[in-house]
Amino acid sequence: MKNRLYFNIDQKDNSLFDKIVLEQKTIGYYNLPKQDTSNILEFVDNFDKNIKNIMVLGIGGSSLGAKAVYEFLKPIKKPKRKLFFFESTDPLNISTLLNEVDLDKTHFLVISKSGGTVETISIFKYIFAQKSEKNSYTFITDNGSKLDKFAQDLGSKVFYLPPNVGGRFSVLSVVGLLPLALSGVNIKELLSGADKINRDFFKGKKLQSTLLKKASFYAKNCDRYSINTIFAYSENLKYFTEWFVQLWGESLGKVQKNSILNVGLTPIGLIGPKDQHSFLQLIMEGRRDKSVTFIKLKEFNPKITIPDITLKYLEELDSLHGIRFDKLINMQCDSIIEALLNEKDIPVDEIVISKVNAKSIGELIYYYELLTSLVGKLLGVDTYNQPGVEAGKIILKEKLSRY
Ligand code: PA5
Repeated sequence: MKNRLYFNIDQKDNSLFDKIVLEQKTIGYYNLPKQDTSNILEFVDNFDKNIKNIMVLGIGGSSLGAKAVYEFLKPIKKPKRKLFFFESTDPLNISTLLNEVDLDKTHFLVISKSGGTVETISIFKYIFAQKSEKNSYTFITDNGSKLDKFAQDLGSKVFYLPPNVGGRFSVLSVVGLLPLALSGVNIKELLSGADKINRDFFKGKKLQSTLLKKASFYAKNCDRYSINTIFAYSENLKYFTEWFVQLWGESLGKVQKNSILNVGLTPIGLIGPKDQHSFLQLIMEGRRDKSVTFIKLKEFNPKITIPDITLKYLEELDSLHGIRFDKLINMQCDSIIEALLNEKDIPVDEIVISKVNAKSIGELIYYYELLTSLVGKLLGVDTYNQPGVEAGKIILKEKLSRY
């Protein structure tokens, strides 16, 4: 993976790296690339061969990461088992998903770190009322949670999150690895990508200074460039951008520590070239409040080419003849980068990942987790909590008790 910044930042916070080295000792996700996955792989090896569908009941950090990796890899390799994600209390969505599968060939993964999330538990109740065999379920939760106790009583298999790994930083833990391994994703390769980024950053390779500069730029310019856009030129990255939106938004939108100041950066996920025909106009001519990170794939497959077919009246598009689509999409991306750079006041950077495989998405995930931690430190927020979502939950609880 390569990351080229097209903007300058003179002032660098030299203590930032030391702060992250210190944080590493207490925050669990930093250890995930090197974890022992033998218990997950053993479980997957012994898994019922008749099960063709895995239904993940989870929301936010308990589902978005696995979905991002699954959807990234799905177009290049038929999954061993299909994954389905129940992330909503939308009744139509619940019944549509359930109608898609043969329940006898389906296993349910109930994933909730806290073990008490309304969306996950309400959907679980609905399904459990129809199918209550303990072997139909595997639970992933925190050790000792109420859901853990329930699962123990039921006699189902339970996996625990490692200590100090927050929901939105948990994709590379059992939370993401178990569903992905069941669907046939090579989780060792996924972790090797994350490990590469971890080593490059902590061992002082070029990526270290790039990430420190980029984080410093975002934090120092958080008022001027308050919106951070990812513009990914691959349809496969659609759900990766959803994962990014949650990671960035929920981690950085906070009241600053020891202060009453509300801070934050607004994440936007775009897919090229589709969004050249929608959001691009706003970036190009709208308020200068957005940074743009382009994500490109170096190698696409299949290598299909635009044929030499002249269409009457459309002769001016004959210049497309013989161009491979992979070249075309990257030329489109490069043209937009050039156009934005010509504007001079839009901060642009470019990430290039090699190809669609587990290692590349592992790299991208870990890169963004590190960047989020760095920016969080500079903004002076607690990156790993989410007190702002509690107020609505309390009101819902009151409403439910009165209902
Ligand atoms: O990042 C987070 O911590 C949240 O988005 C959670 O993942 C989300 O609220 C789901 O929580 P839980 O896994 O406890 O059900």
